[in-house]
Amino acid sequence: MKIISISNQKGGVGKTTTAVNLAQAIAATNRKTLLVDLDPQGNASTASGAKKNNSLFETTLGKHVSELIQTSSNQYDVLAGGEDLVALEVALRNNPTKGHIAKSLKELDYDFVFIDTPPSLSSLTLDALISSDGTLIPLQCEYYSLEGITSLVNTINELTNSGLTNNKIFGIIRTMVDKRNNLTKDVSDDLEKHFPELLFNTLIPRNVKLAEAPSFGLAGTNYMPESFGAKAYLALAGELLRRLENVR
Ligand SMILES: Nc1ncnc2c1ncn2[C@@H]1O[C@H](COP(=O)(O)OP(=O)(O)O)[C@@H](O)[C@H]1O
Ligand SMILES: [Mg+2]
Repeated sequence: MKIISISNQKGGVGKTTTAVNLAQAIAATNRKTLLVDLDPQGNASTASGAKKNNSLFETTLGKHVSELIQTSSNQYDVLAGGEDLVALEVALRNNPTKGHIAKSLKELDYDFVFIDTPPSLSSLTLDALISSDGTLIPLQCEYYSLEGITSLVNTINELTNSGLTNNKIFGIIRTMVDKRNNLTKDVSDDLEKHFPELLFNTLIPRNVKLAEAPSFGLAGTNYMPESFGAKAYLALAGELLRRLENVR
């Protein structure tokens, strides 16, 4: 089982869209996939056609995680997120047990677990980072994007150096790319200079089908598989699988 966090403390960069579409694209390759929604807003849950209840919070009430898992309208399963995750965040803050999420998921039988994290470096996100084998960082190519991910990259390095996790950054994903925009291109070129090994070659374009799909409770790759956005996420899934198969 590979646990992968999708993280960036900035909101609106495409974390949830990436989590949902990657989960579906990977599940479509017959790999057993779970999407964990760790954002109290529960966007990944509704985008997956799931209810915003039975979140990971209920593990603190003694429930086994297998009782909480729902099916989605896509091919992956969902551990939904909702407002009670705020209570889980408090519980994690007051409890020094690290890696609660990984411990909760340990006995499950999945090939891939994707965790959609909230837009902050809260204790929910920290526990997700500690619990993960790797992190994917969606990034919008804007002027301050690089500064934004520096603190995330530093946090992951600190957690790894203090022996709390083996989390590796699996890659940076450029989202909502508009090739006609010069600033996008400049930032994108800058990223290639700074993170040549981390950057995924696949660019996720700005595509309205990806924004429409959640209102149908479907991943874009399922809702409109022929759209540019869906094809990009399918390509990204292929690139991720190739990266993970090459020992790094
Ligand atoms: N590639 C894209 N093309 C068009 N709209 C997108 C794309 N990616 C995300 N969006 C839209 O942008 C908004 C923010 O994306 P979201 O995935 O929710 O970001 P985050 O989870 O980081 O806050 C949403 O309304 C989403 O539908
Ligand atoms: Mg989100």
